[in-house]
Amino acid sequence: MAGKQRKNSNGLYEIRESEIQGRGVFAARRIRPGQRIIEYAGERISNKDADGRYDDDEMDRHHTFLFTLDKKTVVDGNRLGNDSRFINHSCDPNCEAVIEDGEIWIYAVRNIQPGVELAYDYQYERTSDPGDEKLYACKCGSPKCRGSIMKLPRKPRKRRRSKPLNSVAGP
Ligand SMILES: C[S@@+](CC[C@H](N)C(=O)[O-])C[C@H]1O[C@@H](n2cnc3c(N)ncnc32)[C@H](O)[C@@H]1O
Ligand SMILES: [Zn+2]
Repeated sequence: MAGKQRKNSNGLYEIRESEIQGRGVFAARRIRPGQRIIEYAGERISNKDADGRYDDDEMDRHHTFLFTLDKKTVVDGNRLGNDSRFINHSCDPNCEAVIEDGEIWIYAVRNIQPGVELAYDYQYERTSDPGDEKLYACKCGSPKCRGSIMKLPRKPRKRRRSKPLNSVAGP
């Protein structure tokens, strides 16, 4: 295999260059659905501190290692983090991130064969700035790609037409 690669200690995955973006995490052995893979570790900081560390206005392409844990706390995988910070986003993911007792854990949601890249859906909150579409463009390459690493825009709620009481169905 070309390029630098690094296996983790339990041989479950390896880090190498990804076709999605930068480095990625790839299965080194078969991983089963429901298998817990790694904690998304990192320094716990406030939203305000996170905004100070990463300024979207300074980036051509969004690139951070942040994971929103709750309304107040963000985990920065770039400090005190581990290999989980290299897991890329996919719109058709084979993993999911689950918050358990205040910790973020990455689980497989499918059978993952050796050599396949691990990915979960980042589901970043959508911003109202149209310029952010380019900043958050998705390169996951899936046929189901929604084109963005942000969540889909919320569908406007349909207004329910009220039916008159005792209405009769049919033409
Ligand atoms: C936690 S890092 C993932 C590791 C990253 N590949 C690296 O080498 O640093 C998150 C960043 O990776 C990039 N990224 C991850 N998935 C992506 C995708 N599907 N499309 C475009 N960029 C992606 C974005 O820049 C995102 O901010
Ligand atoms: Zn995508």
